[in-house]
Amino acid sequence: MHPLLLPLLLSPLLTHALPTPQNQPGTFPPTGDGTYAGGIFSISLTDLPRYIPPGPDGGTETPRADGQRTSGSGPYPAQMTTDPTLPGHTIFAPRTPPAGNISLPFIAWGNGACVLNPTQYQNLLTEIASYGYVIAADGTPNGSSGTEQQSKVQDMRESLDWAVAGKAAKYGNVDVQKITTAGHSCGGLEAMSTAYRDPRVKRIMMFNIAIFQDEKRYLLQEIKVPVAYLIGGKSDMGYENSAKDYARLNPGLPKLRANLDTGHQGTFRATNGGKQGKAAVAYLEWQWRGNMTARDVILKPESPGSLVKDNWVVESANWDLV
Ligand SMILES: *[C@@H]1O[C@H](CO)[C@@H](O)[C@H](O)[C@H]1NC(C)=O
Ligand SMILES: *[C@@H]1O[C@H](CO)[C@@H](O)[C@H](O)[C@H]1NC(C)=O
Ligand SMILES: *[C@@H]1O[C@H](CO)[C@@H](O)[C@H](O)[C@H]1NC(C)=O
Repeated sequence: MHPLLLPLLLSPLLTHALPTPQNQPGTFPPTGDGTYAGGIFSISLTDLPRYIPPGPDGGTETPRADGQRTSGSGPYPAQMTTDPTLPGHTIFAPRTPPAGNISLPFIAWGNGACVLNPTQYQNLLTEIASYGYVIAADGTPNGSSGTEQQSKVQDMRESLDWAVAGKAAKYGNVDVQKITTAGHSCGGLEAMSTAYRDPRVKRIMMFNIAIFQDEKRYLLQEIKVPVAYLIGGKSDMGYENSAKDYARLNPGLPKLRANLDTGHQGTFRATNGGKQGKAAVAYLEWQWRGNMTARDVILKPESPGSLVKDNWVVESANWDLV
């Protein structure tokens, strides 16, 4: 498949309805659901070609190809599993609840093209989980990777509802005060749409994506929590858009935008999710466990193993460095 076809974003339904009355500049929809895959920050499949920048998608950074399956490099060997209490989803979590009853932040994940199968992110998500996180991803390991049916905000919200209801307790001491929504491409837009006016969500992570349409950027006013963009450099369809969104976020909001020359497909499939896996873990460990060494990896180019030393171009603002 052509790489640009992989992240096709939306539902074949509702193709000619943009902008809907709900996303006219100055009007704020009551929830992030919208009418199609990925929610109010996403785009219709029909409109997508108009917004994808010209030129080939790709990058020089390696490795990006399929790596080894591991149980992650963190202290809590992790696995992908399914759970009958959360149908239509996949869980990534430590194999056994970590000793000492440590608290586990929760992440709801959305896939590229909003497909209902997260297995292409297995390496990344297992890596994160191995540091002591419980992740509920849209879709099942046996789900379709096609776009005939796609995830919506409601799918990610079901993950939040599940965790908040205590149904993730079998994986350990899940801390529902520490909820992140995250995703790749359409799944990232879904993560932002899910966070829209949902105070349960405390962090948003956007992988290789940002808002496509200039006329929808005003909706960022309703984003009140820190946003991290991990983007694939100039050939990534998220490159220009993430620069615009980064500039447009509410004044004072802590924000991060880091680019690595991977193109839109990132390093997810590499062993332990490659450099995106490392960056994601460092960001999360800083945010949720106050690990200042991990913070320095992100923010301080001179620190050992910094993102900049890994070839990332890092922009950040409004983090308290004291
Ligand atoms: C784990 O810690 C939580 C509070 O963080 C507490 O509610 C729970 O009872 C503890 N579980 C065990 C098995 O100690
Ligand atoms: C796919 O996996 C889910 C979760 O394990 C299961 O409930 C469902 O029956 C499976 N569907 C098929 C078609 O195998
Ligand atoms: C903090 O992060 C650093 C760098 O990511 C890591 O090497 C270290 O083990 C972490 N410390 C703790 C206590 O988790």
